[in-house]
Amino acid sequence: MFRRKDRIEVKTPEQILLMREAGLVVGRTLELLRESVRPGISTRELDALAEESIRSHGAVPSFLGYHGYPASICTSVNDEVVHGIPGDRVLQDGDQISIDCGAILSGWHGDAAITVGVGDVDAASLELSRVTEEALWRGLAAAVAGGSVRDIGVAVESSVRSQPAGESYGIVEEYVGHGIGTSMHMEPNVPNYDHGGKSPQLVVGMALAVEPMVCAGSRHTRTLADDWTVVTTDGGRACHWEHTVAVTAEGPWVLTAIDGGAARFAELGVASPAATRH
Ligand code: MF3
Ligand code: CO
Repeated sequence: MFRRKDRIEVKTPEQILLMREAGLVVGRTLELLRESVRPGISTRELDALAEESIRSHGAVPSFLGYHGYPASICTSVNDEVVHGIPGDRVLQDGDQISIDCGAILSGWHGDAAITVGVGDVDAASLELSRVTEEALWRGLAAAVAGGSVRDIGVAVESSVRSQPAGESYGIVEEYVGHGIGTSMHMEPNVPNYDHGGKSPQLVVGMALAVEPMVCAGSRHTRTLADDWTVVTTDGGRACHWEHTVAVTAEGPWVLTAIDGGAARFAELGVASPAATRH
């Protein structure tokens, strides 16, 4: 691994394999949480399940204690965009929850988020989540050597805007994706929109967390008095999807997806090492 003058970390293939192990801990933990979401479960119970799962794999929850954050996952319900703190809240039929999870294994970080419906969810909210997840995969597909960080934001934004109700959604700008490796948040910032201008070129060995946050209405957010929970200012729902991806010589490898991205990239016609390597 070396750190460039712009402070972006470039990993060796062996180090990317270690990041894959950390990514799988996050992927498996989110799979468990997805299956556990149901009306009547509290966000605190989900947090306990997450911490137990992460530690059972020999890893450490990276969020716990990060800038004083008090839990192992973020649980953001309905109009909460990101950084919701697990607690007494009991999930109700019709809710929609974004769960963000991070783990450290052998010093390497993985970071991913999913949005899950609770029981019977209205069609507009399901569509918002579908649009956000598709935008994530379009962004991940742009994580190729020779491209640039800007290409990822362009791919995310154009994916959202090309959807049936695409022009009416808000794409959050205050929070962005990030480089990841020996720390959770590293250079470069990875915006979910076209920020214009020059941006770093992607090279083999970079690892990025791509994480679009898409709102049913306005993109504007505010932070609650707990100093963490970010909500939409208009009270509309927001969805958050995230994966950690490595730029490899064979294409993007989604380290936090159980199949490495094989299925989604096959649909999109994107070459990936996940097609032959898990
Ligand atoms: N996982 C979030 C991100 O994607 C960060 C969580 S903030 C924490 O960048 F404080 F909870 F760790
Ligand atoms: Co992240």
